[in-house]
Amino acid sequence: MESYKTKLTSAYELVKERLTRAKPGFKPQVAIVLGSGLGKFADLCEEPFIIKYNEISGFPVSTVSGHEGRFVFDKVNDVPVAIMQGRVHMYEGFSAAESVLPIRLMGLLGAEMIILTNAAGAVNSSFNVGDLMIISDHISSFVSSPLRGENLDFLGDRFPDMTNVYDTALTEQAEKMANIPLRKGVYMQLPGPQYETPAEVRMCRTLGADAVGMSTAIEAIAAKHMGMRVFGISCITNMAAGVSDKKLAHKDVAAIAQESFPLFSKLLNDILLNLRK
Ligand code: HPA
Repeated sequence: MESYKTKLTSAYELVKERLTRAKPGFKPQVAIVLGSGLGKFADLCEEPFIIKYNEISGFPVSTVSGHEGRFVFDKVNDVPVAIMQGRVHMYEGFSAAESVLPIRLMGLLGAEMIILTNAAGAVNSSFNVGDLMIISDHISSFVSSPLRGENLDFLGDRFPDMTNVYDTALTEQAEKMANIPLRKGVYMQLPGPQYETPAEVRMCRTLGADAVGMSTAIEAIAAKHMGMRVFGISCITNMAAGVSDKKLAHKDVAAIAQESFPLFSKLLNDILLNLRK
């Protein structure tokens, strides 16, 4: 079987070669991962160069509705970006390491920073549906580590420090310039794909989580391992199970994320404007 390292390097070489041909000299400064219902942001690109995940041999391909499954390369507000329009999740059957392969690829292409976005359920009962939450920290202890197995020394250390996964300077900047009220809190990744039970949501709260979802923390770990600056935004699409009486459904999650899209898009645009070199 092809080793993980071979899979990653051959995927990198293929994307690098096609990207260089399409956009000579283009090096993404910022990687962006668009979560459920937030993929439209990539449609705002004016001169996108697109590579579908299924065009890259050995690449994990998402099967979830609302996740496009492609890279979009372009400049947004003059900042060269690599956007993942759709991610893969561990609940689709991918290992943690496989799930973060695209993140590592964007790091290898040169992205110094990553913006991770997701749809999440509010564990914190003072939050409202439609809020945007800046991720201040995460709990990933219920899912496997993407760093499990042989360490890839060319990416980072065996035992990387996770004291400050989410970049404080970027968080402060975003809080200062956003002219919308932003929440801030701890994101907890659970395996899914089933939504949590009310008892599990109470557990999340006891452990210090403000929001819960099925992605992102492992991506943040992989990015931090590579030395990337990490910024995370959760779109609160529902109150988590038991926080309100409402039943949970993926179509509602996606619909609320779409409703929050203008706010989300403005925040992302402002962050990129601030990063312009
Ligand atoms: N739980 C887990 N994942 C989610 C939720 C939730 O309530 N909402 C959106 N993604």
